Amino acid sequence: MQQLKIAFIGGGNMAEALIAGLRGAGHEGCHIAVSEPQAARRDYLSDQYGVSCMQQNSDAVSSADVLIMAVKPQQMQDALKDMSEHLKVDATVISIAAGVSTASLKSWLNGDANIVRVMPNTPSLLGAGMSVLFSDADELHKKRTEYVLNACGESLRVDKEQMMHAVTAVSGSGPAYLFLMAEVMQATGEKLGLNTEVAAKLAAQTVFGAGKMLVESGRSAKDLRHQVTSPGGTTQAALDVMYEEGMPAAIRQGVEAASKRSQELS
Ligand SMILES: NC(=O)c1ccc[n+]([C@@H]2O[C@H](COP(=O)([O-])OP(=O)(O)OC[C@H]3O[C@@H](n4cnc5c(N)ncnc54)[C@H](OP(=O)(O)O)[C@@H]3O)[C@@H](O)[C@H]2O)c1
Repeated sequence: MQQLKIAFIGGGNMAEALIAGLRGAGHEGCHIAVSEPQAARRDYLSDQYGVSCMQQNSDAVSSADVLIMAVKPQQMQDALKDMSEHLKVDATVISIAAGVSTASLKSWLNGDANIVRVMPNTPSLLGAGMSVLFSDADELHKKRTEYVLNACGESLRVDKEQMMHAVTAVSGSGPAYLFLMAEVMQATGEKLGLNTEVAAKLAAQTVFGAGKMLVESGRSAKDLRHQVTSPGGTTQAALDVMYEEGMPAAIRQGVEAASKRSQELS
């Protein structure tokens, strides 16, 4: 696995998160190529991560053991056009695009590729990602994919492709929900008199610390919430208002909307 040749098609935000994760995990033996239309982005990625960047997809694809399709869902069909003629027979083709089905990917690749669908998230950039994969290809292709993903954080498999919509809604888009939470906490801290720097630090470290507790304590989110909520105290006062204002319902409806959007995209 150490000698895998990995090629990214599209060098945008999510590709960068995965590249940073791979580099951060010390997978120096892996050769990483990135095909990306924008010259400024190619320069940035090669300077920052020491990857080989190119403009022509075919140059990146022909020697790749693992091809990671990191373009927007609506760009996928175009990006896969004519790719099958350059692809190695036993190459693993990973798609990270939200909502694009295995059946569509196979048909755009003339039907005979080893497809793995993955839903990563941006904390992969720091090695703290959560990625989920689905594939009906051989075990080798799932193992190769896990090798890449585990360099960027945690990974899980689902055995029904339909589950990828829920995965996208919870962990794929999830970091944005927590950023919104931090944004509102910071703004309210400022309204209550804290300066911007202090309010930003309090919000960020609180989201980080709470996340770390949730992951490392082995306790449920509900349990941990009860633990910090003394009856009649300040947290109780906050949560009462948050429930009254419909915060849990808003989160539920938001997550469901993301899942619905993923279904529409497919
Ligand atoms: N961002 C997230 O949090 C997240 C999380 C999970 C999954 N994803 C998935 O990751 C994928 C990429 O998202 P992103 O946020 O990284 O998008 P992005 O920043 O727009 O990156 C896509 C890059 O691919 C380039 N590109 C477009 N067509 C191409 C082609 N035919 N060949 C080679 N490169 C091409 C784009 O160039 P132009 O700008 O010139 O078009 C752009 O630089 C999406 O499918 C998304 O569903 C994203």
